[in-house]
Amino acid sequence: MTYDIAIIPGDGIGPEVIDAAWPLLGDAAAAAGFDLDGTRYEWGSRRYLEEGAMMPEDGTDRLESHDAILLGAVGHPDIPDHVTLRGLMLPIRKTFDQQVCKRPSVLFEGVESPLRGYGGGDIDFVVFRENTEGEYADIGGREHRGFDHELAVQTAVYTRAGTEAIVRAAFEEATARDGKLTNVTKSNAQAYGMVFWDEIVEEVSEEYPDVEVERLLVDAASMDLIRRPEEFDVVVASNLFGDILTDIGAIVSGSMGLAPSANVNVDGDYPSMFEPVHGSAPDITGQGVANPLATVLSGAMLFSHLGEDAAADALWDAVADQLADPDAPRTPDLGGEGGTEDVVADLRERL
Ligand code: NAD
Ligand code: IPM
Ligand code: MN
Repeated sequence: MTYDIAIIPGDGIGPEVIDAAWPLLGDAAAAAGFDLDGTRYEWGSRRYLEEGAMMPEDGTDRLESHDAILLGAVGHPDIPDHVTLRGLMLPIRKTFDQQVCKRPSVLFEGVESPLRGYGGGDIDFVVFRENTEGEYADIGGREHRGFDHELAVQTAVYTRAGTEAIVRAAFEEATARDGKLTNVTKSNAQAYGMVFWDEIVEEVSEEYPDVEVERLLVDAASMDLIRRPEEFDVVVASNLFGDILTDIGAIVSGSMGLAPSANVNVDGDYPSMFEPVHGSAPDITGQGVANPLATVLSGAMLFSHLGEDAAADALWDAVADQLADPDAPRTPDLGGEGGTEDVVADLRERL
């Protein structure tokens, strides 16, 4: 079996972590008895600066036939973020209806959390983030620029189909895990969208009587993910709330450099995309110190999505084994002095 993977390294540390992780994914695939065929798309900010667009006009058409997409990161200090992200990553999530964004936060053995008293295994939750609508709907506008009455409108959109899709996916996951789901909301202030969101959670929960549902306002949830992260199992949140909470999830589990994610097209009509939660990290680009493990684990999520669980498990185990070993190389975000390449070289041996 050969899987055909689209690889978009993107910007900043994106190419660094992709170049490090990709050969390792090939190793894990070979060991599990299948092959990866990667097609590299050199799209991103360099292309924008040279040709005026992040990707070609038919970019998503070209991606469509692939079995999955592996993305590095997007964003460049010389180009406004709304230009780069709306030119490359966000259109892929939307065009391919990748409604379900799954982002696990795991504190591995051997990794130091900034939270006092937490050790390996104490934090293990997963955020289900609505991924194509909500606060990220590309609906709004600006008018009367330069006048005192200048205005900007940005509309949040919650559809029944989109909300049900993410909520149902979260309940399914809770059923397969510890049976606990936290609904993150802001229905005290957002009486249309978020009250609707809560109603959908309520409705869908009737299909899952064994799942215990907790409801938290997003401000309190931000606090509790730091105060009592060990109590969370599955968290479901809107697009923007999920974005914010998963950076909290990443850092309480040790580093942005460890957090993977999956953007899933649930019906399987289009390819799903796998990418680290972190961005292009211009502050460390070119230094060879970016942590590649978030990308490696995103590759593991890609394998699970393809049904290749043995390869996925092998990657998770190798990462866990490395992090638990005090003598293994680690990058500076984890308190080490190792480089990106040292980490993957060690990981290849463990695999
Ligand atoms: P960031 O995630 O790039 O960086 C935040 C901090 O985490 C920085 O200190 C960085 O050095 C550190 N960090 C991130 N990844 C790391 C890794 N693998 N190893 C070690 N340290 C790591 O967030 P930012 O600085 O807010 O954004 C930078 C750019 O990336 C912006 O243009 C932003 O829009 C973009 N961005 C893109 C994505 C994406 O492509 N999925 C995600 C987030 C941000
Ligand atoms: C993420 C990123 C993106 C998001 C940005 C870069 C648009 O922060 O994947 O978490 O908000 O979805
Ligand atoms: Mn983010």
